[in-house]
Amino acid sequence: MSSSSKFITTLKGEKSAIPPIWFMRQAGRYLPEYRSLREKAGSFLDLCYDPEMASEVTLQPVRRYDLDAAILFADILLIPDAMGQQLSFEAGEGPILDPVITAKNLDAFRARDIHDRLAPVYETVRITRAALSDDKALIGFTGAPWTVATYMLNGRSSRDPAALRGLFYEDQAFLSALIETLSEYTVEYLIRQIEAGADAVQLFDTWAGGLPWPVLDAVSVRPLQKIAAAVKRVHPEIPVILFPKGVGERAVEYAVLPECDGFGIDYAMDPAWARANLSGHTVVQGGLDPLSVITGGERMLKGAATYLKLFHDVPYVFNLGHGFSPETPPENVAALVAFIRGGNW
Ligand code: CP3
Repeated sequence: MSSSSKFITTLKGEKSAIPPIWFMRQAGRYLPEYRSLREKAGSFLDLCYDPEMASEVTLQPVRRYDLDAAILFADILLIPDAMGQQLSFEAGEGPILDPVITAKNLDAFRARDIHDRLAPVYETVRITRAALSDDKALIGFTGAPWTVATYMLNGRSSRDPAALRGLFYEDQAFLSALIETLSEYTVEYLIRQIEAGADAVQLFDTWAGGLPWPVLDAVSVRPLQKIAAAVKRVHPEIPVILFPKGVGERAVEYAVLPECDGFGIDYAMDPAWARANLSGHTVVQGGLDPLSVITGGERMLKGAATYLKLFHDVPYVFNLGHGFSPETPPENVAALVAFIRGGNW
């Protein structure tokens, strides 16, 4: 447990002169040390299910940049994989899940013990937590049910994930059953991560954008609240961060939830609006456009300064508005971290 980490105390409402820093996709292909380990591992999934290697990859960016938090190296699609929907990653294709989930086969994927398959992930958490010093936090995570469902229903990344909302009208019973099943697994998975040593957890709802009322409420806001509440019934002290990307002003509906300790803002959200409308309810995290870090230089630093200045008088966690791209030069990340820590914004 890292009760002394700045990341955790910030999520509990304490502000500091320099905010804690971590980045979505801080481990990954933009780092040469990741690419070399990934080559040794063979496939991306072999890497996710190998605790020693996954732990090493988790620690790489923390070592390189002295970040305040590590994020477990895994993937949101390990849950469907553990449910028996076979996952593979084809070069240039992204994830493939086989077979696609339908109203007819859903039952075959329920009531399975997912923890056999996921045991190496818990082991990764355990050894990573043991390797981190007390002032660094370890973040566990899962995908939110809707985002994971978009891959399960389509069998691969969707061109237009929001279009899958048609199911809300066609077969609401099936959609609800799928969301409910994923929610139950998600709660168990997060609790096991926490019991293995995760100090906080984040729920990624990457494809929440573009959903109309009342679909967003049914497939994202309510399920995330239920999941967070169920986790907190068992582990009330563990902060929960929600990252529903692309929800615009509906962010307020998540931020006001008593279970929402942190809220990740995406790069499209106006940070002044977020400061005025979200910071009174929760701790805001992130926002900086990851593409600005590909370019680097003054533009990137000016962008970062905007967030740092706007949120200087409230608890705030520095992060991006989505994950790093593989083209990101690692030295730009180092310059960004030095700028934030330098305090001259
Ligand atoms: O942030 C981190 O450093 C922790 C690890 C992490 C990964 N994926 C590793 C990964 C996390 C938190 C995720 C979350 C994830 N995975 C999301 C939600 C966040 C987001 O980025 O929107 C989603 C939608 C996925 C599903 C997924 N996994 C996709 C669409 C892909 C891309 C496939 C490709 O080849 O580009 C992945 C693969 C993946 N997950 C990689 C990494 C480092 C690249 C795999 C590789 O090394 O080849």
